[in-house]
Amino acid sequence: MESVWQIFSKNQIKQSVLNKIGEGWDVVSRAPGRINLIGEHTDYNGGLVFPAAVDKYMYFACRKNGTKTIKATALDLNEQHTIDLTDLKITGTLWADYISGILLQFQERGYDIDGFDVSLTSEVPIGSGMSSSAALEMGILLAIAKLHNIELSKWDAIQMSQNSNHEFLGIKGGILDQFSSSFGQRDRAMLMDCADRSFEYVDIDLKEYELLLINSCVTHNHLLSGYNDRVLECKQALQEIQKIYPHVASLSDDYAIKDVAFSSEVLYKRASFIAEENQRVREFKSALNEHDLGTCGELLNGSHDGLSSKYEVSCDELDFLAANLKSEPGVLGCRMMGGGFGGCTINLIKSSIRDDLIKDIEKKYIDTFDIKPEFYPVKMSDGAGILED
Ligand code: GLA
Repeated sequence: MESVWQIFSKNQIKQSVLNKIGEGWDVVSRAPGRINLIGEHTDYNGGLVFPAAVDKYMYFACRKNGTKTIKATALDLNEQHTIDLTDLKITGTLWADYISGILLQFQERGYDIDGFDVSLTSEVPIGSGMSSSAALEMGILLAIAKLHNIELSKWDAIQMSQNSNHEFLGIKGGILDQFSSSFGQRDRAMLMDCADRSFEYVDIDLKEYELLLINSCVTHNHLLSGYNDRVLECKQALQEIQKIYPHVASLSDDYAIKDVAFSSEVLYKRASFIAEENQRVREFKSALNEHDLGTCGELLNGSHDGLSSKYEVSCDELDFLAANLKSEPGVLGCRMMGGGFGGCTINLIKSSIRDDLIKDIEKKYIDTFDIKPEFYPVKMSDGAGILED
């Protein structure tokens, strides 16, 4: 079943979404945002990730329009954009450029794509580290495929999205986000080895605990450059390791780090973070098997420390949240989630303290940064799919 796209019905959509998109569409698709329990920045290093899709979706309502242009409306932004299918190029309107990149992927595979109108609306907060971008790409991919009767496997879709990011948008991302948005299943996380893309579903039952996301509501503008820099540094670290260990194919392979004379402290820190983060993923899985959520929480804290001090993708706001959350009673663990430089923290907390915690953290965060944070309790949910009445 895992290779078949989800089907969803109208009663699985919030009335507010139905009101926004209205009636009379040929195809309605949706794709969710994601969380990642642990295993950050390991995906493009052939390592382990442990994500899940969440119950926040981006919706796409499409109708063929008999032209060679796409008329795209971002309902929440009240913005319209026309995309010329005969001249797909970067315009600087990021949400529309994501769509153009995907259209180009279809064209490069030889598909003759017709013009259509598309209205989109998002429950996934933008720039939150929950990967609204993957939700956008997977949702539009699925809609275009359905509109043109193109058979598209999940792995094809993931590859097309990654190609578009690398070649069209210049974002050197891994496959964590697209994978999660496509393969997600209710109440389950997915433990994937990015070296060979093998994965298993893991049932998650946190009992009296839950996952709460806290959105720092900042996105630092070096997000993209910082991300691409890390990808490059990891490549350089790998080349230095290969001088001693030629068989090592990624920073996630086995080797003795003490044998490698890295040319800089930075490269050493990047390589050692990746090895440690992979180990934390393994330990997290074992702790989950034993229902030892205390250990899971400590591993989350360890992941944050590594992301902040060794991988250097955190920021003041995220470090503040992590430090303050740690000292709250009923919080087992907290870490920044996703690419970093802003966005959300993922927090493992006792459900009964949620309301008090929110009040307390909100006040402290506003007092310090003069920014109102946002709080999202999340449930693990089904991946991208098509509406069938
Ligand atoms: C972003 C990228 C993913 C992954 C994470 C960090 O979300 O899109 O591929 O690298 O950052 O784990």
